[in-house]
Amino acid sequence: MELIYQENCENINWEEVPQLLEKVGMSFVDVERHRISFENSFAVVFVFDKKKMVGIGRSISDGVRQSALYDIAIDPTYQGCGIGRKVIDILVNATPDCNFVLYASPGKEDFYRKLGFKKMKTGMMLFADPRRMEDGVFVDK
Ligand SMILES: CC(C)(COP(=O)(O)OP(=O)(O)OC[C@H]1O[C@@H](n2cnc3c(N)ncnc32)[C@H](O)[C@@H]1OP(=O)(O)O)[C@@H](O)C(=O)NCCC(=O)NCCS
Repeated sequence: MELIYQENCENINWEEVPQLLEKVGMSFVDVERHRISFENSFAVVFVFDKKKMVGIGRSISDGVRQSALYDIAIDPTYQGCGIGRKVIDILVNATPDCNFVLYASPGKEDFYRKLGFKKMKTGMMLFADPRRMEDGVFVDK
């Protein structure tokens, strides 16, 4: 399997982004907002098997102190092959002097632990959609 790791937004078929997020059970919105969110990110990674998008990830950052990871998703057929680790490596190396925060999907905490992340004691979250504050998945009710 020869995969390509693309670190820019050139020639992306943006429809594949929400399709991939939906496939792995992550939240997704309209195609246009995904395009804007990736284009406005500090670092991006798209993984391709030939022309098929099989992995994505992005970071937002001030470039020197603080970064955050979002939309880390690997196509289920391609999971368990080290792709997720490589996506995180690329994003971390884009801002190597920064702290990184993220909120893991439920059950994926051990993946991030393996890569050196630790659970935060004082993490706080304000969701734009108030319903996400109530579902008890990411924040206490
Ligand atoms: C979580 C996810 C990104 C991991 O990507 P991946 O390509 O399957 O992971 P890798 O193959 O790079 O795994 C790296 C290491 O983490 C381990 N790992 C992977 N998923 C794990 C999990 N859910 N729990 C514990 N360990 C996990 C692997 O066994 C591997 O360990 P090793 O190096 O000792 O062999 C991927 O499974 C995914 O996209 N899941 C669905 C979407 C999602 O939940 N994304 C995270 C949003 S925060």
